[in-house]
Amino acid sequence: MELKPFEKRLYLSSPTMHGDELKFMTEAYETNWMSTVGANINEAEKLICEKIGCRDAVALSSGTAALHLAIRLAGERLYGQPKVGHGVLEGKRVFCSDVTFDATVNPVAYEGGEAVFIDTEEDTWNLDPVALEKAFEIYPEVKLLVMVHLYGTPAKVDEIRQVCDRHGVLIIEDAAESLGATYKGKQTGLFGDYNIISFNGNKIITGSSGGMLLTDNTDDANRVRKWSTQAREDAQWYQHEELGYNYRMSNVIAGVIRGQIPYLDEHIAQKKAIYMRYREGLKDLPVTMNPYDEANSEPNFWLSCILIDRDAMCRQVRSEKDVLYETEPGKSCPTEIFETLLKYNAEGRPVWKPMHMQPIYRMNPFITRSGSGRARSNAYIQENGFNDVGCDLFDRGLCLPSDNKMTPDQQDMIIEIIKRCFS
Ligand SMILES: Cc1ncc(COP(=O)(O)O)c(C=O)c1O
Repeated sequence: MELKPFEKRLYLSSPTMHGDELKFMTEAYETNWMSTVGANINEAEKLICEKIGCRDAVALSSGTAALHLAIRLAGERLYGQPKVGHGVLEGKRVFCSDVTFDATVNPVAYEGGEAVFIDTEEDTWNLDPVALEKAFEIYPEVKLLVMVHLYGTPAKVDEIRQVCDRHGVLIIEDAAESLGATYKGKQTGLFGDYNIISFNGNKIITGSSGGMLLTDNTDDANRVRKWSTQAREDAQWYQHEELGYNYRMSNVIAGVIRGQIPYLDEHIAQKKAIYMRYREGLKDLPVTMNPYDEANSEPNFWLSCILIDRDAMCRQVRSEKDVLYETEPGKSCPTEIFETLLKYNAEGRPVWKPMHMQPIYRMNPFITRSGSGRARSNAYIQENGFNDVGCDLFDRGLCLPSDNKMTPDQQDMIIEIIKRCFS
């Protein structure tokens, strides 16, 4: 196969519009509902409730805003309302997924809490319930967990829920990447005590930005609606008894989301076809795809990723921001594939760098199956085997172009490029 650079960049995941989005945005413009109130917001909330099966969905400016307000709901329920100017989690520890985008855990810090990172399991690349149980031996006082479904793959929800119930812990479920994915036939976004989704531009459906808090508790939904509009009290004048935020979704953005929701299942089918095509096309290489529990879950296949077998890794050394590798016949590494894809105008990305390895969170506790763990160097891992799963996934894992507009021919070229990296 002759390889030449793609004329247009192939992305990990870019927005796919269908036409109705523009119609609903135009409607907002023509009716002058250019604000955080309007029919698009009401409809988008209603459509998401119908799709997911929750009683209430609160449309917000981002998934991060939804997580922040979920933290505030959980924090006030557990610890009471803080004095103004103080975080609701001040002095409190919160268990968190470790391999995730930092937006999952930053709201814990916004509210003064300390994230305790829980290592990852290898079956779904999500929070490890065994490490979670271990964490309660070390921090029995913890009352809150924030967990993610990475790349649209449902976590081991039942096992995590059992551990949390045993210890009386509330769960915030970050389903930002997993909209439309199911676990045991139930949509993600229904498993936490508080749940969020995102409509960021890279997500499976998008509003360009936006997020929602999902709940079956209408009182919680009403509190979040109020907080998201500066916590105005019901009075003629601006009256405030609680701290508020400007977190409500715009009616223009909601128009885009309203137009996208009917296409969620189509996008999932396209993403699944991409995943399966990679799995088939790469099956003779020393790599595996990001795994999922085929008996119990159906991911939304948002991003397809590969993990290179340990003995097929060429030498790769990463510093904080730079990386070097040495080519070796028959071997490769995420960096070599990433850089080669880039030469052909295609986007890859290393698996999300674990939170416990991030400079901002490096001093936070990190718990593995064997207890308290710390990030180690690649050299240490090569000599002693990996000591934490997240670090290992980061070392050997790469997200591949997973855009649902990618054609089979283009994907065949990506597969060929990857094959040549191992030749
Ligand atoms: C796992 C995860 N959580 C939270 C977020 C935050 O969502 P948003 O970008 O809508 O704030 C994102 C993505 O952006 C994400 O991938």
